[in-house]
Amino acid sequence: MSSAAWNLPKADNPRQRFESEKIHGEGEDGKFTQSWFPICLSSDVKTGEVKGYEFLGGRIVAFRGEDGIAQVLSAFCPHMGADLRTGNVMGNTLRCAFHHWKYDGDGRCVHTAIGDPPPPSARLYKFVSQEKFGLVWAFNGDKPHYDLPDFPVPMDQLTIRTVAIPGENPVDPWVQCANTPDIQHIKALHNIKFTQDDPEDIVWTDTSMLYSFAGIHTDGSSVHNVVGIYGTSLYYQATDYAGKWFGFMDAMGLPRPGAAINYMILAARNDMGTKDEIEAYLDFVFQLEIGVVSEDLHVMQSMKFRPGTLTKSDRTLGRFFEYMRKYPRAHPSQPFI
Ligand code: FES
Ligand SMILES: [Fe+2]
Repeated sequence: MSSAAWNLPKADNPRQRFESEKIHGEGEDGKFTQSWFPICLSSDVKTGEVKGYEFLGGRIVAFRGEDGIAQVLSAFCPHMGADLRTGNVMGNTLRCAFHHWKYDGDGRCVHTAIGDPPPPSARLYKFVSQEKFGLVWAFNGDKPHYDLPDFPVPMDQLTIRTVAIPGENPVDPWVQCANTPDIQHIKALHNIKFTQDDPEDIVWTDTSMLYSFAGIHTDGSSVHNVVGIYGTSLYYQATDYAGKWFGFMDAMGLPRPGAAINYMILAARNDMGTKDEIEAYLDFVFQLEIGVVSEDLHVMQSMKFRPGTLTKSDRTLGRFFEYMRKYPRAHPSQPFI
């Protein structure tokens, strides 16, 4: 070795990786973000049916009685712990398969087959739930502190198609949500050319963020997007694509810590053409969005996410990390599921 080589500056490995202030992962400290999470497609639970799902690292059931309302309850019967997914829907009650106790939509035991009075303490945890965009949603928390968004076109003027994406992503839903404020990745990974400066007029609330940008899609079409995040589980988009409007949302379920299930909600205006033309347009929008989503999935499925070294272009992402650090977390259903 020449003596000059001994004089080269030494390139030490960094001793410690720089990481910004911690953001809690889902399930850490036994808590989860207080958000609306999709549980299943509405069509998965028909009248008279009960289905079991994994949610927040536990088990729940969704059942639809003859009143047509989808109820979301903890899965384990308070009597001996049978999973109520093996039960039956009878009228507006859910009957446990084991000893035939019956539970109403509020999770109260209203009947025992043997004739003993229903114990008042025999209660299932009832999740606050709703159906919207062809999905059954449950809120993690006793009282929702925000609403799911609407598209800027009244629902009765829209055709909505909701599609469950098979499989799971090995990240928390909020990590997927962090894509939206990640302006660098929109330009680099998705190769969308902005025809404006980076958005500065971002509307932040404690439970949402929303901004718009204009650009050129990879296929050369002009796009104007309004994009945002609601809670920690919903990506929102309203787009003018080459002069035509569509709406898109990615709703993210949380079966357990470090896992996300994705549902794509597609919307087209009813006045844009015949029924067949609208369906064909939704096919096109699905292909367009699945193309974008696959570019993200390629990264999401193998990354080890951490909010690390940021640059100036990451200022919106940095603000989102702040949003996440302050986001309320709880787990009231924990003793039941
Ligand atoms: S375990 Fe459900 S009724 Fe006994
Ligand atoms: Fe993305």
